[in-house]
Amino acid sequence: MATLTVTPGRPLRGTISVPGDKSVTHRAMILTALAEGQSIVSKYCQGDDCLNTMRAFRALGIQIDETPHELTVYGKGFWGLTEPNGLIDCGNSGTGIRLLSGLLAGQDFFTVLTGDESIRRRPMGRVVKPLREMGAVIDGRKGGELAPLAIRGTRLHGIDYTSPVASAQIKSSLLLAGLFAEGTTRFTEPRLSRDHTERMFQYFGIPLSRDGQSLVLQGRPSMKWGGRTLVIPGDFSAAAFFIVGATIIPGSDITIRNVGINPTRTGLMSVMKSMGAQIEMLRPREETGEPVADLHVIAAPLKGVAIGADLIPQTIDEFPILCVAASVAEGETVIAGAEELRVKESDRIATMRAELQAMGAQITERPDGMVIQGLGSAGKNGRLNASSAAHSHGDHRVAMSLAVGALTGITAMTIKDAGCVHTSFPDFESKVAELLTAAS
Ligand code: S3P
Repeated sequence: MATLTVTPGRPLRGTISVPGDKSVTHRAMILTALAEGQSIVSKYCQGDDCLNTMRAFRALGIQIDETPHELTVYGKGFWGLTEPNGLIDCGNSGTGIRLLSGLLAGQDFFTVLTGDESIRRRPMGRVVKPLREMGAVIDGRKGGELAPLAIRGTRLHGIDYTSPVASAQIKSSLLLAGLFAEGTTRFTEPRLSRDHTERMFQYFGIPLSRDGQSLVLQGRPSMKWGGRTLVIPGDFSAAAFFIVGATIIPGSDITIRNVGINPTRTGLMSVMKSMGAQIEMLRPREETGEPVADLHVIAAPLKGVAIGADLIPQTIDEFPILCVAASVAEGETVIAGAEELRVKESDRIATMRAELQAMGAQITERPDGMVIQGLGSAGKNGRLNASSAAHSHGDHRVAMSLAVGALTGITAMTIKDAGCVHTSFPDFESKVAELLTAAS
């Protein structure tokens, strides 16, 4: 799918499910590969990012059988990975390349990790630097700042590391390296980033403790862990497009089944509620150590809001769609402390500003965020509409956010270079169609 065309004029109605959580799927593949014996990973994310991680593990000697519903992973135990005979291509996935860097730094073989054009632009020094402090031998372009990364596996030792950024990728990379390192790894971050790695370690019984703001891990644990059955919760970041869509498209009323509601991920829900959204959490429960619920959303007028640094980690992937909500809301929205958005799959401050402005939004860029003057007035959301096609900039979340924005418009709109939605949400277009059809 090179382009995505959406036709506005109808509300979103009905009940859908969304793909399995991308972050949790990556971690599930890693820990099941290191388990002794067979695991089942059901409702996994079939986006390209996770499929690339699956291929990476196959290249590392792990058999993985795949059906559309579940993966069967034949784990080979703690030291069971073997040297791949070619490059490992992580595609578009920052999580894939950064987590694998940590995992592979402490093995007894050589690997080269690379990815697509976007990945080869994104900062890798944030994991390479602390991994080198642990003894890792990693080289890469610009002294290891950029992929491809060549990793000569070696003996690592634990370190006490305070990350300058709240990043689950840095945290998870160091915890995975720490698992294979001698001694203790201690990790501290400025704010709590998504905690899926901590939860999945706990699910497998791997001893990881919290000491105030820090995580503490004893390397090379004496315990082994067996295969497990894992059910991946629906991806909150995929649900986010429909949470915002149903809120801003008049007359909408939807339910999204089985959504992961881990509090380190659901910042968008809090922000949207403070803007006036009507979101109900139904049947809260737990799946594979992660909280899950069904979400019921009906259309509501929105008001602008101020979002500061404390809300960034739990909202980090939802800013593109939040910019859409803010653009149609009544009043001003200010986003600050969000400089990390500039080093995502695209520079999301620049791309969303440019694309939404072309759709009539009023946005001023700041180095660490933006100020959005909403188009809504008198308790009514505004509409976005473009006179020409929009561009995804190769960024899946930008593509899907623009599509949702276009559903508030008057005329059909095309998003170019939209094949990237396959990164996390291959059936996005059909889910939109399903909800529009239910309304007619
Ligand atoms: C992720 C962490 C976040 C997030 C990314 C997935 C993860 O990145 O943006 O989509 O699965 O650990 P950072 O760690 O760079 O914030």
